Amino acid sequence: IFDLQRISLKDDPSKFCVMPKTFIDKGFERIKNMKVFEDDIWIVTFPKCGTTWAQEMIWMIGNDLDYETSAKTSLDERFPFLEMSWLGPGIPFDIFEMCQEMPRPRYIKSHLPYFLLPDQLWTVKPKIVYVVRNAKDAAVSWYHHHVNLHGYQGRMEDFIEAFSKDLVPYSPINEHIIDFWSIKDEPNILFLFFEDMKKNLDQEVKRAMQFFGKDFSQEQIDKLCQHLSFESVRNSKTVNKDEQIKLLMELGGKKYQPKDGFSFIRKGKVGGYKDELSDEQIKLLDNYVNHPGLEKIGFEYKF
Ligand code: A3P
Repeated sequence: IFDLQRISLKDDPSKFCVMPKTFIDKGFERIKNMKVFEDDIWIVTFPKCGTTWAQEMIWMIGNDLDYETSAKTSLDERFPFLEMSWLGPGIPFDIFEMCQEMPRPRYIKSHLPYFLLPDQLWTVKPKIVYVVRNAKDAAVSWYHHHVNLHGYQGRMEDFIEAFSKDLVPYSPINEHIIDFWSIKDEPNILFLFFEDMKKNLDQEVKRAMQFFGKDFSQEQIDKLCQHLSFESVRNSKTVNKDEQIKLLMELGGKKYQPKDGFSFIRKGKVGGYKDELSDEQIKLLDNYVNHPGLEKIGFEYKF
């Protein structure tokens, strides 16, 4: 469905990322050379790791709990997806330009790995939030995303095999994490786990508040946690992307036909992969995540 290629940098050909050719031809250089501001707020994740959920959390905290704007303006407008215009055909806006021209402080989302992000991110050092999720749930979620948003016709087992061979967009996930884990203690980095947000959202909200230098009352925090609950995010017209996806597909002349009641905010479970993958597929992913680089840096997925 995408014309995928591996992209590496000349100075380190051992690192690669699987990206659509459009991104490599048109987006890569512009993003690498992009101007970064100190007051920017970035979120970086491998896809399907809880980006949208964490984006809403961060935006709300950064904007002093502005429920009114959150309810009025789509998250994609408040917190645009940097490389989205170059991921395939059918995106009729220049989202990169939109990111460049946003009023400051800018809120920017990207799924790019460390080495493809703007060079200035590492010198200007704005706040960067990184969210990780266990690779098995991310892989299953990525499959459903491809089926429903990109017309992927393959079976789950085909996708899981492709994931384990680093053939799907933004692969490899392990290296994506390794690079950010190694800078997780820098003061401008907040490293979050999807699984921790599920287990104790209150605590992760407080960590994020501290990161942004904000002080809210427990009552305000409780209200924010309610706003960020699975049901609330799923029912939100501005945070859940279902309506925008439908609109974008229709603009591209396609009919949006979600399968099996799919919603962008789909199941939101930890360990949901167990309900969907065979023992063989789980084994394949277990072998894939048994990565010496992860062990070396002391990173463990929370399955
Ligand atoms: P599932 O497909 O497993 O349900 P991203 O925003 O990075 O694309 O991640 C999407 C995943 O985050 C989806 O996972 C979605 O359901 C989950 N998610 C989003 N909001 C959530 C919430 N409030 N609680 C739990 N999971 C949530």
